[in-house]
Amino acid sequence: MPSPKIFKYDVLIDAGDLCDRKSELEELLKRAKTKKHTILFAPRRYGKTSLIKNVVGETFSHLSRQHLVLFFDLMDVQSLESIAKRFHHGISLALAHRFSVKKLLSDVSAYLKGFSLQVDVDPATNQPSISLAAKVREPKIEISNLIDVIKRLAHQYPTMLILDEFHDITFVPEAEALFRGLLQELGETAVFILGSKRHLMTLMFQDAHSPLFHYGDEMHLGRIPIKDWMAYFQERLAPRKIKIDEGALNSILTTLCDVPNAICEFGAWLVDNLESETTLTVGLLRLQMDRLVENKQSYAYLLQGYTEKECGVMSALAKQQFILEPQSEAILKTIHASKSSVAKIIKKLMNRGLVEYETDKGYRLSDPLLGHYLATR
Ligand SMILES: Nc1ncnc2c1ncn2[C@@H]1O[C@H](COP(=O)(O)OP(=O)(O)OP(=O)(O)O)[C@@H](O)[C@H]1O
Ligand SMILES: [Mg+2]
Repeated sequence: MPSPKIFKYDVLIDAGDLCDRKSELEELLKRAKTKKHTILFAPRRYGKTSLIKNVVGETFSHLSRQHLVLFFDLMDVQSLESIAKRFHHGISLALAHRFSVKKLLSDVSAYLKGFSLQVDVDPATNQPSISLAAKVREPKIEISNLIDVIKRLAHQYPTMLILDEFHDITFVPEAEALFRGLLQELGETAVFILGSKRHLMTLMFQDAHSPLFHYGDEMHLGRIPIKDWMAYFQERLAPRKIKIDEGALNSILTTLCDVPNAICEFGAWLVDNLESETTLTVGLLRLQMDRLVENKQSYAYLLQGYTEKECGVMSALAKQQFILEPQSEAILKTIHASKSSVAKIIKKLMNRGLVEYETDKGYRLSDPLLGHYLATR
């Protein structure tokens, strides 16, 4: 019997847990199979990694025993050393997942120039785990050797390369040039570059002076329609006989700015905290959302890391949900800050992934539940 459907949040999800996204998946998979370069933009917590890694990547890796998925998470990389570590980790996992010990030692090791390969087998699962030891431990040389390994693997095996949170390499001097060297030589490889920090992605891929200008086709994940969320909620609320109508669901989607992670987190809270057979109303939902954020101690800790003015900007965003012009007189008055200091704060919060900009709507807090926490304080 299939296990009952639940709301999952803060984790990568698989195809069976996805709401909507059928047409996007079809297109993304087609692009993987035809070796296209794709730049996928979406706000934070919209499902980028789940779609590309868990769904498209999994399908791609099942196309044959040769198909290889190389996934690198570049979130918050601080230095060339940390990029080298992410490369090591990604390559090791992909190879161990794809090839048998025999194949690794007989064939694959030939592509690992500059590294010695150590293979261990977990006796419990019989799964190989591999580690690459660099022969030269200088970060720049190590990265360029790792990049050569990626290129050789991609030339030998049908490969899908995923660079997640790619924009964060902006903060590491010299990293962009190294990646350019890799990306520009992967003509016959499906490349997916994922990012949520739109302001940084725009500089990298949409500025005519950038070397990666128009490197791939842009794709965007938009909001999920209410009719799909309705079916998704009903399936997960039905075992507890909790009822929701379109007006109530719409209030959730609006308050949570259509962000799927926050919507699922609230869905899970409702299932855990409501009596069976409850009928959800807008008022009851509001009360439950207040309770959910009151319970999130992590927000108090997070805000301790920011100055009073920075918290003031976040509160102003929280209260209005979207602000088109954060440097308008009305906003400056409420925060007691100058135009230039608000501009600096917004930039810092965007670089940290705490604030984002949605076309036509304006700036908002990336985590709408943090928004609700601040708005109700
Ligand atoms: N289509 C969807 N259906 C249901 N839930 C979704 C969907 N897309 C995203 N989610 C929710 O978002 C959460 C985060 O997904 P994921 O980590 O893939 O997003 P992301 O965009 O990569 O996030 P981040 O910005 O943190 O990298 C999931 O745990 C799930 O709760
Ligand atoms: Mg992600």
